[in-house]
This record gives sequence, structure tokens and C-alpha cells, in this order.
Amino acid sequence: MKIIGLVGSPHGERGNTARLLRIVLEGAEREGAVTETLYLEGDSVQPCLGCDTCHKKGRCVQKDAFESIQEKIVEADGLVLGSPNYIFSVSAQMKAFMDRCCGAIHCLRFQGKYGATVVTSGGGDEPLIAEYMNHFLMITGIRPVGSVWATMGKITGDAFPDEVRSKALELGGRLVQFWKDKTVFPEIERRIFQFSERMRALMINRKDEWPYEYDYWKKHRNL
Ligand SMILES: Cc1cc2nc3c(=O)[nH]c(=O)nc-3n(C[C@H](O)[C@H](O)[C@H](O)COP(=O)(O)O)c2cc1C
Repeated sequence: MKIIGLVGSPHGERGNTARLLRIVLEGAEREGAVTETLYLEGDSVQPCLGCDTCHKKGRCVQKDAFESIQEKIVEADGLVLGSPNYIFSVSAQMKAFMDRCCGAIHCLRFQGKYGATVVTSGGGDEPLIAEYMNHFLMITGIRPVGSVWATMGKITGDAFPDEVRSKALELGGRLVQFWKDKTVFPEIERRIFQFSERMRALMINRKDEWPYEYDYWKKHRNL
């Protein structure tokens, strides 16, 4: 299994989020996965311009790291997203990445993959952000298997507490196991299906404006 880890923190690999995400990937590697971590530092992925070119032509007009990150995700079997809590939400870097996935969302381009999410914060509210990122995974077609988080303000020293570390390792292992077993969760299948039906209706409505996505649906999604 190939897993991409994507860290949305300006602190990159030295940050809390990357350190926690690394433990999740370590858990996955113990189960035989091959992993690669990518960092959304600085302006490596710019905010969406809202030009609709991705819907019309299947590519973004901006020349930055987005397309190569997206291709790596398409080629992988799993995706682990990590973000710090920035004012009760994901970081701007992670949000820019999510917005740029608008075309992938319309086509549920990552369908069939498995995912997990990682959040760190200063003072809390991580479940809100984990749920948001899990929802993002689902609307791209990815089955989320769970989340792990850490409240840094409650931690003394550099290492994560054993409880957080074990949860992170277990989450990584579960990601691989669920992918191997092709585990399905009825509620998640229902939510992905419901969103897919919404996108199907959108494609029919936007057939003339968004030819690339309409053709993608015709070719790959039984429209
Ligand atoms: C701009 C900014 C906004 C933040 N907002 C929150 C917040 O709303 N709640 C919170 O608990 N922590 C907040 N934090 C703290 C970070 O979530 C926390 O330090 C996190 O572990 C940083 O992860 P990183 O090292 O991977 O960047 C904020 C930090 C920054 C820089």
C-alpha cells in the first residue's frame, strides 16, 4: 500500500502536526505500507482563483505544486491529512489545497482510497477540525478510517504522551488493514454515494459549461 501524508503547517516537518502524522505513518509502515510525506509550506499551493478552468479543461492554470501533489494522491492507495488548528479550522495552506481539489471533488477522483486525519492545537477543539477534514476526504471519494489529535498546551516536553502515540500508531495500522481487507462502513458508503449523486446531477446541469468533467463522468463514472 502506498500512502501520501500531506502536512498543512507552515512549520513543515519540524512542526507538531508533522511529528504526529509521522507516527501515524510509522504505524502504517509497520503493516507494510510505503509512505511519502509532502508539506504545504509557504505558497507551494496557492489559493484557488475561481476561474473554473479545472472544470472546463481538467487542469489548473496556476503553475505551482498542486498538480504534482494531486497526481501523487491519484497514484497512491491512501491519504493522511494533517493540519494545525488555526482559529477553529484548518490552516490556510490546507484550505488552499482543499479548494484547489474542486475538480477532483466534482469527479470524486480519489474514490476507492482510504484515509485518516491528524490535528494538533494549542488548546483544543480538534474533533471539529478532524471531522471537517474527514468530510473533505469523503467528498473526494476517500473512506476515512479515523483521526488522531493532540492538544500541545497540555503536553510538557517534546514527546507525545504514550496514549497519543499509541492511538497514532494504531490509526496507521488500521488504515493499512482496512485497505487490505477492503473494509466498508455503511454510513460512509451512504455519505459518499449521496455526494456522488449530487455531483451527477451537477454534471448533467453543467454539461455545456464544464465539458472536461462531463466527459470524465461519461468515461469513468457511468453517467
Ligand atoms: C495563526 C494561528 C492560529 C491558531 N489558532 C488556534 C486556535 O484557534 N486554537 C488552538 O487551540 N490553537 C491555535 N493555534 C495553535 C496551533 O494550532 C498549535 O500550536 C499547533 O500545534 C501548531 O502545529 P504546527 O507546529 O504543526 O504548525 C494557532 C496557531 C497559529 C499560528
